[in-house]
Amino acid sequence: MSQPLARHVPVLFEVALDFLSVRPDGTYVDCTLGLAGHAEGIVRRMGPAGSLIGFDRDPEALDLAKVRLDRVCEELGSQAPRVVLIGEAFSRIAGHVEPASIDGLLADFGVSSLQFDQASRGFSFQADGPVDMRMDTRTGPTAGQVVNEMSERELANLIYEYGEERRSRTVARAIVRGRPVTSTAQLARIVASAVPPMKHIHPATRTFQALRIFVNQELDEIRALLEAAAKLLKPSARLVIISFHSLEDRIAKDSLREGARQGIWNVLTRKPVTAGEDETERNPRSRSAKLRAAERQ
Ligand SMILES: C[S@@+](CC[C@H](N)C(=O)[O-])C[C@H]1O[C@@H](n2cnc3c(N)ncnc32)[C@H](O)[C@@H]1O
Repeated sequence: MSQPLARHVPVLFEVALDFLSVRPDGTYVDCTLGLAGHAEGIVRRMGPAGSLIGFDRDPEALDLAKVRLDRVCEELGSQAPRVVLIGEAFSRIAGHVEPASIDGLLADFGVSSLQFDQASRGFSFQADGPVDMRMDTRTGPTAGQVVNEMSERELANLIYEYGEERRSRTVARAIVRGRPVTSTAQLARIVASAVPPMKHIHPATRTFQALRIFVNQELDEIRALLEAAAKLLKPSARLVIISFHSLEDRIAKDSLREGARQGIWNVLTRKPVTAGEDETERNPRSRSAKLRAAERQ
């Protein structure tokens, strides 16, 4: 097994699959394949009449997911379900899936360990790399273009809105003064010099989060997915959403609550499910995970 696949630990694995309630002959969508940890679990619960449709807009992740799922299907032989992988943003799901045709949909938002741990992808302030942060490396502006070209005011608004950083104006001023910003280590130093040290997180955490959300249009993607999901799921089909920060979780919570009011969703998680102590010890990334599940009415 290659290194990234070996290292990867899917978050809230059992609980996510339990809520999906996988039927051997069902059709399931994993919107965020990543390294296919959850997808492998789904495939192993299905039979030859089942289908998995997987999305990831990161071409590298899609290739690795394919390697893993091909291997699992080979092992399952004639019992393997049909697997279709699509290298596009999940907001485009309606172009690939028929209305009311899905038995379950899983989305595990955010960055994968593959993306975060590779300095060259530019997601991490702990490793020095180019300021990139694009999940889909084929399109769109990089975070470097954003920090070097955006006006100070726009940058401040972005850091405030997507990073919930109270000192966004100070941070934006420091970034503009520090231009050109050419590496993640430089960007982290600039931000750290502009805000006081924090107890539990690196001072650049919020700014990096804001840039990543903006570059990948993450919140619009989630809104589009949740809207489409209501049309694509069959009655009684399951929706399982795992988010990693309050902006994502708020969208999921509000959308499910509003859907419940309109008779679209029956919400199965009154409060979000979080990882237990065992899991957070094994996988620190799971600490901030929140899972919400709903059934299509
Ligand atoms: C947290 S990882 C998923 C990990 C996966 N559940 C596993 O078990 O390996 C999130 C993945 O979703 C992808 N992703 C995030 N937003 C996306 C979007 N809007 N459209 C398609 N893929 C997206 C990322 O590229 C990343 O590979």
